[in-house]
Amino acid sequence: MNQADVDVAKLIVGDQEIELPIIEGTEQERSLDIGKLRATTGLVTLDDGYVNTGSTRSAVTFLDGERGVLRYRGYGIEELASQCDFVEVAYLLIHGELPSSEELQNFRMKLRRHTMLHEDMRLFYDGFPRDAHPMAILSSVVGALSTFYQDSLDPHDSGQVYESIVRLVAKLPTIAAFAHKKSVGQPFVYPRNNLTYCENFLRMMFSVPSEEYECDPDFVEALNLLLIVHADHEQNCSTSTVRMVGSSNANLFASIAAGISALWGPLHGGANEACVAMLEQIRQDGGNVQKYVKMAKDKNSDYRLMGFGHRVYKNFDPRATIIKASCDKLLKKRGINDPIFEIAQQLEEVALNDEYFVERKLYPNVDFYSGIIYRAIGIPVQMFTVLFAIGRLPGWISHWREMHASATKRICRPRQVYTGDNQRAITPIDQR
Ligand code: CMC
Repeated sequence: MNQADVDVAKLIVGDQEIELPIIEGTEQERSLDIGKLRATTGLVTLDDGYVNTGSTRSAVTFLDGERGVLRYRGYGIEELASQCDFVEVAYLLIHGELPSSEELQNFRMKLRRHTMLHEDMRLFYDGFPRDAHPMAILSSVVGALSTFYQDSLDPHDSGQVYESIVRLVAKLPTIAAFAHKKSVGQPFVYPRNNLTYCENFLRMMFSVPSEEYECDPDFVEALNLLLIVHADHEQNCSTSTVRMVGSSNANLFASIAAGISALWGPLHGGANEACVAMLEQIRQDGGNVQKYVKMAKDKNSDYRLMGFGHRVYKNFDPRATIIKASCDKLLKKRGINDPIFEIAQQLEEVALNDEYFVERKLYPNVDFYSGIIYRAIGIPVQMFTVLFAIGRLPGWISHWREMHASATKRICRPRQVYTGDNQRAITPIDQR
C-alpha cells in the first residue's frame, strides 16, 4: 500500500499491477474500493462472514469497536439515551435529523393513528399454535402487512414508503403484544392512543379487561432506554438482510419480515433469550460460574457464553455499559433481588479476568444484561428478541431507505469460489 497520504493502493497479480482507490469515511475509516477488481483482473475477493467487507457507504450509524463508540446520525448513544425518548430517536434515524417539537408532535400523531391492526389480521392469531414462538408470529404478520396495505408497496414512491414506515413503527408493538396475549390465552388488548409508545406497549402486554391497569414509570423508563440502545447498529446481520432483500426492490414489509427472521438467531438478537436461559441453568446447577467459563474455553466443545463477545466491539460494548447501569438502578429501586443478576455479575467478573476472554477481547455485549431488565418488567423470555426487533425497526427502515436513495444502488449479489465437483456425466439410476 502507498503512504498514508495517498489515496490508492497497488495490487500486483502476476505481471499485472492495478490501482485500487482508497475511500475514506468521515471518521477516517479507510477502505479499498474493489469495484473494478473483477473486470480488470478476473479475480473476486473471498471473505467468509464478511469480516473485512464494507458492503456500502452509510451515513446512519458510526461505531468504533476499539474505542467503544456508538453514534446514531452523529449523536452519542449515551446522550440519546439520557435526553431523548425512543420515538424521537426513531425520527432521528429515519429522517436523519432530530425533530423540532412540532415535527415530533406530528410524528407521534401519525404513529398514534396507525396503531390498530386490521380486524381480519386478528384471525391469523387463531391459526398459530399457542406455543408458537413470537418471533415467528412477528415475521409472519409483518410479511402479511403487504397483503393488507397494497396501497403502500411501491419502493420508488416516497409517499407510499413513508406510509409503510408509519404503519410499521405504529403497528409492531401491537403485533408483538397480540403474540404474547395469544401465548397466555388472554384477550387481545387494543392500543390506546393517549398513551406514549412504551406505555401503550406495556398496557397491551399486561392489562386485562377485568382490572384497571397502571403503567409503572420505572418500567416505561427502562423499556424506553432498551429500545433506544437497540435502535441501530450499522451493517449487522439483520440490517444487511433488510438491505439485501430490499435491493431486489421487494417492498418494505417483506424486507423487514426478513430482517426479523435474521434477528431471531441466537448468535444475533436471539442471544438475549439464550443468555437468560444460560444464567438460569447456571443458577439451577448450583451457581458454579467457573464450570461454565471452563466449558466455554474448552476447544472440544462448541459451548459459548451467551451475551459475550462481538464481531465489532473489541474493548467494551457501550450499550452494555448503559444497560448494566439501568439494570442496577431498576433492581435496586424496586427492591428486586434476582439471583440471576448476581450470577451475571459473577460470570462477568470471572470471564473478564480470564486469559482466554482477555486474549480474544470478549466482553459482555448488549444482550448480557438486557434480559434481566425484561424479567424485572415481567416480560416473558420468549418475548425478549421481539423487544429487540421493536427497538431495531427504525434502524432497519433507515438503512432500507438509504439503500434506495443511493445513486449506486444495485441488487446485492455476491460472488463465490466454487469448490464442488467438476462437470460429470449422470450414471443411470439402475447403475448407481
Ligand atoms: N464464548 C466463548 N468463546 C467465544 C465467544 C463466547 N461467547 N465468542 C467468541 N468466542 C471465541 C471463539 O471461540 C473464537 O475463539 P478461537 O479464536 O480460539 O477460535 C474467538 O472467540 C473469536 O470468535 P468468533 O466466533 O470468530 O467471533 P465472531 O466475530 O465471528 O462472532 C459473536 C461474534 C457475537 C457471534 C460471538 O462472540 C458469539 O457467538 N457470542 C455469543 C452470542 C451472542 O452473545 N451474540 C449477541 C451479539 S450482540 C447482539 C447483536 O448485535 O446481535
